[in-house]
Amino acid sequence: MEVGYLVVELLTEALGLNSDHLKDMGCVEGLSLLSHYYPACPQPELTMGTTKHADNDFFTVLLQDHIGGLQVLHQNHWIDVPPIPGALLISNDKFTSVEHRVLANRVGPRVSVASFFSANLMPTSRVYEPIKELLSEENPPKYRKTTVAEYVTYFKAKGLDGTSALLHFRL
Ligand code: OGA
Ligand code: NI
Repeated sequence: MEVGYLVVELLTEALGLNSDHLKDMGCVEGLSLLSHYYPACPQPELTMGTTKHADNDFFTVLLQDHIGGLQVLHQNHWIDVPPIPGALLISNDKFTSVEHRVLANRVGPRVSVASFFSANLMPTSRVYEPIKELLSEENPPKYRKTTVAEYVTYFKAKGLDGTSALLHFRL
């Protein structure tokens, strides 16, 4: 959680906002954690560890072990993200529009822990919209405003089909 809060502050500063701006918007009020166990797979070419997706959060802090298998999609090519001992991986699918997946592996098991920092995703009427301080004539809004309830309902109905739920809200 400490790493997560530090990342939010750094992102906020990088955007030129007051250091509490994103925290005050409730951007990290919801923290969920997924622990994955990928058993060794005798025929990895016939299956997939985790299919292509973009995380449904603000950013993710991932701890992966030494086995490997994580890939990101960059310019239509799958690029390996090799594990670095002791490193935490920070990903921000929403800002970067990067998707990722995990390949099944003959070697294993592989264990990973993903911490998803996001707004509280209890379906409420809380509104999220482009940050006014960042908008200008040259930088118009790219997404329409939505409520948490509408966003979550859409995300769940869509499923992990390899596309970002945000596309639905693009202006
Ligand atoms: C995820 C995810 C990657 C991994 O949980 O969203 O992408 O290494 N996990 O298990
Ligand atoms: Ni993911």
